[in-house]
Amino acid sequence: MKLYRPGWAPASAFSDNDRMPPAVKSQTMACVGGPLSGIETDLVVVPWFEDDAPASVPGLDEASGREIGRALTAKEFQAKPYEWFMTPVSDRQWRARRVALIGAGRRADCGSDLVRKLAISGGVTARQRHVGRVAFVVRGEGAAGDLAQAAAEGLTLSEFNAGTYKTGEPAPAVAPTWTIAILDGARDAATEAVARGRTLGECSNLARELANEPGNTLTPREFAKRAASLASDVGVQVEILDETQIEALGMGLLLGVARGSGEPPRLIVFRYEPPGAPEKPVLGLVGKGITFDTGGISIKPADGMERMKDDMAGGAAVACAMRAIALLGAPIRVIGVVPTTENMPGGRAIKPGDVLKSAEGKTVEVINTDAEGRLILGDGLWYARQLGATHLVDVATLTGACVVALGKIASGLFGTPDAWVQRVRAVADRAGDRVWPMPLFDEYRDQLKSEIADMMNTGGRPAGSITAAMFLKEFSGGLPWVHMDIAGTAWAEEAKPYLPKGPSGVAVRTLAQLAFERF
Ligand code: BES
Ligand code: MN
Ligand code: ZN
Repeated sequence: MKLYRPGWAPASAFSDNDRMPPAVKSQTMACVGGPLSGIETDLVVVPWFEDDAPASVPGLDEASGREIGRALTAKEFQAKPYEWFMTPVSDRQWRARRVALIGAGRRADCGSDLVRKLAISGGVTARQRHVGRVAFVVRGEGAAGDLAQAAAEGLTLSEFNAGTYKTGEPAPAVAPTWTIAILDGARDAATEAVARGRTLGECSNLARELANEPGNTLTPREFAKRAASLASDVGVQVEILDETQIEALGMGLLLGVARGSGEPPRLIVFRYEPPGAPEKPVLGLVGKGITFDTGGISIKPADGMERMKDDMAGGAAVACAMRAIALLGAPIRVIGVVPTTENMPGGRAIKPGDVLKSAEGKTVEVINTDAEGRLILGDGLWYARQLGATHLVDVATLTGACVVALGKIASGLFGTPDAWVQRVRAVADRAGDRVWPMPLFDEYRDQLKSEIADMMNTGGRPAGSITAAMFLKEFSGGLPWVHMDIAGTAWAEEAKPYLPKGPSGVAVRTLAQLAFERF
């Protein structure tokens, strides 16, 4: 633990060995074919459908000494989603010691999205019971590869542990050794899919780890350092621009937000350029990196303000997606831009009524200093264009209004043209990041009209998430651009079987898989 001295702040309050690892890293995940009797493991987890008969998975009921058939008849187990039924394997020919059925609802409704969630729930349950080796059986409707990938993502996501700074408790149980079991044929395709899912799950967990870090440990400088190393470790070129370089670029919006803080801002820039990649397209990913959002002079109420440590979840998603993109070897060039700063009140902080000049030259009247995300993203979007991006996607915990509109179930999706929005939407649906499209009619722009500058940074209460997106659109330079508002989805307030309380890692998989699309 490092101590603060007045006037001098270290980049972070803790050193690396003060932290517990949030997930056990880089264990391999095996992928094996049937029959189930040959799998050497402590626990076989089998998704079970309401419309299954005891014989639906050949040999399973017999291996349990008919316990499964009995439990189904007695309605002890009804296969409702996430229901759990565990019983020993009595057949000595089997190499597994126990089997668990996990309820999976109706077979027709069980695609890769539910398979991912079942794998998370099954993985968490197995971990809580300190099971050493777990095999998860892939069952569901859809392409075998997609289902296997989703299962690998899910088991990996189940490894996340949010208790980074708990002392006096035993370290969380080591994650089990995972095996993905494929019952029918297609094991070769599945092996590759499992590796992909493992990587995407691990990169999602890294983003969750960053979003979970308190504001005093994850300052802009520390965020930049950690984001840079997780991407450069796998061959992404990373540059961290400091306050002097940010000033030289004329980024008045980012510098304006940073003024109230004792911590200097940073601009994290990622470049992924695989050999032989075409000149175009260039995917430009931009993420909001507010390491803590007090609201600034337009200060937020104290209640729940601690949550604002995750206001860099969009930036974390971009950094971790860059890592996944390099690990998975995407075929196109990708640029990532993450402006990062604290939003603090202070003697030098920006004030309502102040006018800032963006790097692009447009002027902004700051009505509310708590609408800071759109300010830093304005300069970030401009910079991604300067670096040659042809298609833009930004991700941000941008507005409480988006939470009002869509709750904590879906991220808001905004952008233009429609074809680009639909493309991102389709990828997000497959990745298991729930999104829903919102309109950007030109008339909404009127709400941003300023008497003194090119625009205001807020548009009043009506359609708050849309006017925030309209503000960002001003900085998209007419390129295909999509904005994902993850204010409601970045953090789970209530634990679900498939999502513990805390950071969700939203958007990492969508951004990474977008780099494998044709556009
Ligand atoms: N980071 C917040 C948005 C937010 C709110 C994220 C709740 C997660 C949960 C953002 O910077 C903000 O403060 N937005 C303001 C905008 C307003 C002042 C126009 C908001 O939504 O209240
Ligand atoms: Mn704010
Ligand atoms: Zn914010």
